[in-house]
Amino acid sequence: MKTSPSLELAEKKLRDIANVILVGSGKGGVGKTVVSSAIALSLARIGFKTGILDADLHGPSLHKILDCKFPAKSGARGIIPCTVYGLKFMSIAFFVDEHTPLPIKGNAKASLIRDLFAQTDWGELDYLVVDLPPGTGDEVLSVLMLFRSKGRIVVVSTPSMLSISVVERLVNLLKREGVPIIGLVENMAYIYHNSEKIYLFKSSAAKVLSKKYGIDLLGTLPLDPKVEEAIIEGKTPLHSKLFAEEFQSIVYKIIEKTS
Ligand SMILES: Nc1ncnc2c1ncn2[C@@H]1O[C@H](COP(=O)(O)OP(=O)(O)O)[C@@H](O)[C@H]1O
Ligand SMILES: [Mg+2]
Repeated sequence: MKTSPSLELAEKKLRDIANVILVGSGKGGVGKTVVSSAIALSLARIGFKTGILDADLHGPSLHKILDCKFPAKSGARGIIPCTVYGLKFMSIAFFVDEHTPLPIKGNAKASLIRDLFAQTDWGELDYLVVDLPPGTGDEVLSVLMLFRSKGRIVVVSTPSMLSISVVERLVNLLKREGVPIIGLVENMAYIYHNSEKIYLFKSSAAKVLSKKYGIDLLGTLPLDPKVEEAIIEGKTPLHSKLFAEEFQSIVYKIIEKTS
């Protein structure tokens, strides 16, 4: 494979990162960003040195959850990331105008993600969490390739059977590319009513996929209005006690499967 200074720098930075957890789904709007932030925040709370990268070039949104003042400074080892809730956080959103579409395509997108990762001073990390773009196209593939030596993925889905073929396409891509799948997280599966779980769908796409492909179902999360409220108020999804409680066992399973 052809090598370049940027590729070499990316590889060098990766050597100081013990684990890379990619979060993807094939679909948009299922909660990848919410789940990515909750994984990273939980890992940092437990005491792991953790970073998080928003790799969704066309729809970065982590900065809205991780309300963070980017220092816009660089040092000898690269751009200083935002530090928030004990996390090191980097996003393309710090460099572009939110309302102007990025005027780049194809290979340029792959290079941009690689440079964003490689030019950041992550230092030594136990975990880097990467919020993937939606879909199963070149954009996702280029991020999978960038982290191929260390990347393992958490796949997020909703119970909807309509979305199953999209998620299945991602699972097949991951199998083809040899990306280890940590497990599935089913988001927005039920609501709480008087402390009881009311399931919103008869179906569970995650259960079907878990059985069909032998993938671990790490947990199911509620559709919790407090998650959305927290984000609007500039707080994180873990601000919702119910969501945070359900999330805890998911994080411990991820730690168990990555250590
Ligand atoms: N479990 C949840 N309960 C309530 N709202 C949620 C939940 N998960 C995600 N959301 C909301 O759904 C929307 C889409 O979530 P997001 O994480 O941005 O999805 P994606 O990154 O897959 O496009 C956001 O407005 C988010 O606040
Ligand atoms: Mg997102």
